[in-house]
Amino acid sequence: MKVGVPKEIKTHEYRVGLTPGAVREYVAAGHSVMVEMNAGAGIGATDDNYRKAGAMIVDSAREVFASSDMIVKVKEPQPSEWTQLREMQILFTYLHLAPDPEQAKGLLKSGCTAIAYETVTDAQGGLPLLAPMSEVAGRLAIEAAGAALKRYSGGRGLLIGGVPGVQPARIVVIGGGVVGTHAARMAVGLGAEVTILDRSIPRLRELDELFEGRVRTRFSTIEAVEEEVFVADVVIGAVLVPGASAPKLVSRDMLSSMRKGSVIVDVAIDQGGCFETSRPTTHADPTYEVDGVIHYCVANMPGAVPLTSSQALNNATLPFGLALANRGFSAVLENLHLRAGLNVYRGRLTYRAVAESLGLPFSPIDQAAA
Ligand SMILES: NC(=O)c1ccc[n+]([C@@H]2O[C@H](COP(=O)([O-])OP(=O)(O)OC[C@H]3O[C@@H](n4cnc5c(N)ncnc54)[C@H](O)[C@@H]3O)[C@@H](O)[C@H]2O)c1
Repeated sequence: MKVGVPKEIKTHEYRVGLTPGAVREYVAAGHSVMVEMNAGAGIGATDDNYRKAGAMIVDSAREVFASSDMIVKVKEPQPSEWTQLREMQILFTYLHLAPDPEQAKGLLKSGCTAIAYETVTDAQGGLPLLAPMSEVAGRLAIEAAGAALKRYSGGRGLLIGGVPGVQPARIVVIGGGVVGTHAARMAVGLGAEVTILDRSIPRLRELDELFEGRVRTRFSTIEAVEEEVFVADVVIGAVLVPGASAPKLVSRDMLSSMRKGSVIVDVAIDQGGCFETSRPTTHADPTYEVDGVIHYCVANMPGAVPLTSSQALNNATLPFGLALANRGFSAVLENLHLRAGLNVYRGRLTYRAVAESLGLPFSPIDQAAA
């Protein structure tokens, strides 16, 4: 198959659909890979690195779109990209179509086959192409908190791990899923005192075993959140209720009980955030203050570390991308997990939740492909 990798054009997006390492795997499997000039610049991968991996470098995205059977990207296609997609072409990338009717219309009109990273599943019922970005965001959350706690950033002037004889920071993580676990892992590693709250008792049991007594776990109720927030130096918001906006678990009243210079990192901001006072920020201006509490609410945290994020994403997408390259659309019909990723097929919406959110007709894949 001819596989194409255009340079990402969304503002401040530095990741790349295929790293040179991933290109080597496609080429070794007998595929040809065309990469737009400078596509890897954001992760320090030169055109020569791609050439050595076996890719052909072309001058423009137009050439990539015109000549490829499958386009592999990171972010959802922008208007200038979806107009270049065509019937029978496979698009493999993050789409997040539910809140984006314009993109949905563009993809439907193009006739392409669009597989969304975020809805591909695995045998454990997880979302394997979302998890790596949650791992990155969780780990980054503690770095962000550490930076915001510094006095010159408006924080309390506290070192997360303290030093011998001096109390470390108290870090409360609300939501013990992928983000929460990776945040806790970093915080524990730095020597912080860590508490994780979750609504799932089986999950709290797993965390208790995983951390072998090095974190406190607590069932998440309004009272528990209030008590923990009151004594915290840092609160990480990491909840997810699948298919719904994040619940507002920390009210403004609770926030005002926190010590001045404390920090909240609302990782769940991409689902609306779990603090009443959260609003999305960017890497250019990541924090703001409410009632003396520093808020960090960057909606695309993994974008800060595109090298790590691209590698983690490529590790996860590679087996699925190779299956698509080897088998074409048949891979979608044969593999239940790839099938779960199919959102658009030749002018029809094949993912029920997306169709319902957009108020458009849903076509089950068997009907759409018939
Ligand atoms: N800002 C970013 O750049 C970025 C990056 C990656 C992920 N995220 C977001 O981070 C959030 C968490 O993602 P994840 O992959 O860890 O999800 P996950 O499903 O692995 O974990 C979510 C956890 O929240 C728990 N939960 C649900 N309701 C709760 C409540 N009331 N109190 C306490 N816990 C509760 C669940 O039981 C689950 O364990 C999501 O909103 C995701 O979109 C943001």
